[in-house]
Amino acid sequence: MIASSAVLFALLAAAGFADAKPPGGGLFGGAPGMRLRHSRPEPPKAFRKHAPKPAAPDASLDLRIHLKKGDRSGLETKLLEVSTPGHPNYGKHLSKSELEAYVRPTEATTSAIKSWLDAHNLTANAVSPAGDILQIQMPVSRADSLLNAQYSLFTHAGNGLSALRTLSYSLPVDLDDHVLLMEPTTDFVIEPKFSDPLKFASHTAANLTSFIDNFLGGGHLGKIFGLKEKRMEDFCNQWMTPQCLSELYGIPFTNGTGKASLAVTGFIKQYANEADLQTFLQTLRPDMSQETKFTLQKMEGGQNEQDPTQAGTEANLDVQFSVGVAGHAVPVTFISVGDEGDNKNGFLDIVNNLLAQDEVPQVLATSYGMDESAVGLDLAQQMCDAYMQLGARGVSVIFSSGDSGVGAGDCTTFTPTFPSGCPYVTSVGATDGYSPEKVASFSSGGFSNIFDAPTWQKDHVNGYLKQIGSTHSGLFNTTGRAFPDVSTSGTNFPTVVASSWQPVGGTSASTPVFASIIALLNDELMAVGRNSLGFLNPWLYAQSTAFTDITTGSNPGCGGNGFDALSGWDPATGLGTPIYSKLRKATGLQ
Ligand SMILES: *[C@@H]1O[C@H](CO)[C@@H](O)[C@H](O)[C@H]1NC(C)=O
Ligand SMILES: *[C@@H]1O[C@H](CO)[C@@H](O)[C@H](O)[C@H]1NC(C)=O
Ligand SMILES: *[C@@H]1O[C@H](CO)[C@@H](O)[C@H](O)[C@H]1NC(C)=O
Ligand SMILES: *[C@@H]1O[C@H](CO)[C@@H](O)[C@H](O)[C@H]1NC(C)=O
Repeated sequence: MIASSAVLFALLAAAGFADAKPPGGGLFGGAPGMRLRHSRPEPPKAFRKHAPKPAAPDASLDLRIHLKKGDRSGLETKLLEVSTPGHPNYGKHLSKSELEAYVRPTEATTSAIKSWLDAHNLTANAVSPAGDILQIQMPVSRADSLLNAQYSLFTHAGNGLSALRTLSYSLPVDLDDHVLLMEPTTDFVIEPKFSDPLKFASHTAANLTSFIDNFLGGGHLGKIFGLKEKRMEDFCNQWMTPQCLSELYGIPFTNGTGKASLAVTGFIKQYANEADLQTFLQTLRPDMSQETKFTLQKMEGGQNEQDPTQAGTEANLDVQFSVGVAGHAVPVTFISVGDEGDNKNGFLDIVNNLLAQDEVPQVLATSYGMDESAVGLDLAQQMCDAYMQLGARGVSVIFSSGDSGVGAGDCTTFTPTFPSGCPYVTSVGATDGYSPEKVASFSSGGFSNIFDAPTWQKDHVNGYLKQIGSTHSGLFNTTGRAFPDVSTSGTNFPTVVASSWQPVGGTSASTPVFASIIALLNDELMAVGRNSLGFLNPWLYAQSTAFTDITTGSNPGCGGNGFDALSGWDPATGLGTPIYSKLRKATGLQ
């Protein structure tokens, strides 16, 4: 049985075993004209250790109302058209106003929500450019009565963070056709994960600078640019530098036009350090202008701490391996998202901030994620729709698949990650080694319990399912959207943090590498007047020969074996690792 389905929770709640029953309780929301929108019998496992504390009645709640989009299915059709090679609309991404015409709620929806707000003397502000997400600030006591809810303070056993949540909420029946979701309510995304890139024990003692000196006999690293194949292999099996990645995937280090752009996000007080980037470039990209920097964009109270002690391993990894792999041709922006309010608001607000811009970055790379089960059905659908909108604007939305294999700890079924389970993002897994590459022993992959496998991956996924027969039967959802889509190397990345070198890795490392490859392809396309690649998946799955199929290793899971990498697509390494020249050819570039 898969434990994270919203349907399952709703049935258990109706049978009445919730600790904290909604006031009035019951399937119909307890009051005339109210309908129960969602309930869960108890919070996710990580929140069960500490009993929920009663919320202070005057504590302020930042509520978001997600309204039904005017023409969601029209937008979905349009997105597939602009993203499917061969379609007459391929590459014709939507402008800001074209997208908003699909997303803006209908007149009926706007007036229904307005009457409800008026009846309660409430005013809401739009927090998305199309007006489909509204925000109201109110005290907990008010929200409790308005939503038949019971907000309490829940504490995460792992990170100690607390947040206001309710185990159930209701809305008037009149809003059934108009409001998709109120949050925060029953979602338990308190903090995104993967914030701590893996450090490799076998390398912690190694000092990169002295390793290089020994290896090259006292030379500057710039010398590895001329190494013979065999020595290159010896070197890159130990350290995965931008030069190794360039050799491995054929990434060109030739100057670009600067026309394309690449944005990398940072959450959870992760700051990217400029001085560390400079040290990184001096050592590992001596061919590049040492003046190359990243542009900073701040939102939600995001900061730009440059004190060396504030340098974040994740942020530095992401910035060094995007500037270090693509920075010679593509300007990189680091978007620092603060932790004002809920972190998951940051996940949505970053999208709405970008959608409000006339010009959007063509690639958005994020090395953070969470368990799908903590997000829940309704919120996952709204977040996934946000990525769908970015795709329609022509943004390749790229996320890491996660670092817990098919599930961490004592899981009894495989636990998919989010946003990787959303079909509108491209999910990147990690490989280990240079020659040959195999599955990195931590890389996450699997099958969503919320989203169906889309047509563009169905044959690939069925091919895998046929190969494994009944292996792991019952532990994962065979109809779900499967991930990762692709993978790149993700171990032994030398990264400068607070002036010293650290060997780090994770799918966090793989994500900026794949994002850089797409950004470089965009630069080449835009240089000849072509459009950027946008939402990648329909194109990627039609180019499986542009990837090196990884067929060794498996991702671990729930204390045992996870999915094996086999011939063809697999939920360990996706289609495999990219071959730049073949992807380039597949774009139609001469
Ligand atoms: C809304 O405000 C009006 C005028 O101030 C008041 O008469 C009414 O009771 C209020 N309604 C609610 C639901 O608070
Ligand atoms: C790293 O190597 C350099 C050059 O050999 C040396 O000066 C430095 O002290 C070493 N650092 C550590 C932490 O071992
Ligand atoms: C490439 O860019 C670098 C740094 O800006 C510059 O020094 C070099 O001359 C350029 N090379 C070519 C071939 O244009
Ligand atoms: C399996 O995935 C599908 C989406 O393909 C979903 O509708 C269904 O609820 C999932 N089943 C379970 C038991 O989670």
